[in-house]
Amino acid sequence: MAIMDAIRYYSRTGNTEKLANMLADQLNVKAETIDTPITDTVDRLFLGGGVYNMSADKHLKEYAKDLDPTKVKEVYLFGTSGSVFTIEKQISKILDKKKIPIADQHLFLHGVMPKMGNISSHQQKEVTDFVKGAVTQ
Ligand SMILES: Cc1cc2nc3c(=O)[nH]c(=O)nc-3n(C[C@H](O)[C@H](O)[C@H](O)COP(=O)(O)O)c2cc1C
Repeated sequence: MAIMDAIRYYSRTGNTEKLANMLADQLNVKAETIDTPITDTVDRLFLGGGVYNMSADKHLKEYAKDLDPTKVKEVYLFGTSGSVFTIEKQISKILDKKKIPIADQHLFLHGVMPKMGNISSHQQKEVTDFVKGAVTQ
């Protein structure tokens, strides 16, 4: 059976959207915003978001709270931020409570300025390596 993947993201200024689309290219699955519900069961949900005032956006947190544990087997977190912050702690805490497993691998790109989409070629390699690592797990 083929592995079923889905990508969902929350992006205010387009950077996480850009990263989600880079992942989409490699995973051959469409990246959608968190407004698109998950209908079929997925083996791997790639869930991403930016950091705003040291926090994940409340919409993303609500989305994580509403995820159906019977439909999502594992979550791979990803995201972008200007500094060293990530959404990892906050979203992991929510998913842990729901007993949705979180993969060890995650992909967080830093130094990404609002609206700039300044993902460097070095970071593009990180994206490729992340997908390779996730796929061969
Ligand atoms: C209102 C606002 C607040 C932000 N606060 C932080 C912050 O506290 N820490 C940080 O590392 N980056 C912060 N950033 C930078 C964003 O996390 C970064 O640009 C990210 O790539 C934005 O993702 P998005 O384009 O997907 O919305 C902030 C950006 C905005 C617009």
